[in-house]
Amino acid sequence: MAVREIITIGHPTLARKASPVEAIDEEIVRLATDMVETLHRAPGIGLAAPQVNVSKRLIVVDLSVGENTDDLIVLVNPEIVSREGEVACEEGCLSVPDIREKVARPYRVLVRGLGLDGRAVEIAGEDLLARVLCHEIDHLDGILFVEKLSPLKRALIRKKLQKSRSAGAQA
Ligand code: NI
Repeated sequence: MAVREIITIGHPTLARKASPVEAIDEEIVRLATDMVETLHRAPGIGLAAPQVNVSKRLIVVDLSVGENTDDLIVLVNPEIVSREGEVACEEGCLSVPDIREKVARPYRVLVRGLGLDGRAVEIAGEDLLARVLCHEIDHLDGILFVEKLSPLKRALIRKKLQKSRSAGAQA
């Protein structure tokens, strides 16, 4: 197990559509294990493989941040099969440091994918779980949450990110 580096906004892998996992082999199991460790260490509640610079369709979600093993979700090739309702709520992303904004997401989703054992898994998520699942699946399609905001908000965020980057360069 190893903590992997989380890449941030501007990195090309985050903008790419990730490829489906063809076989759940040792490499994928290792990737998933590392992603769980990376997520818990961050700490965060969701992580998609492109965020650790692997362009594959794999996500990990854990609303308990490592407190409750029953909450851990590892999904290979996840797909949203249905969505219901809409809620606007603040969210953030480990790949977009220090930015939190209100984003509209479905209230309820049904997601299908495969577990690491290759079996079909179906997850019905509501509220925060639905939000995280949508956020992580967006990552697999190369979409960051800030891209869902208005052009004005996006311009402000770009400015803020540039500022924090140059501040970092001076430090
Ligand atoms: Ni994210």
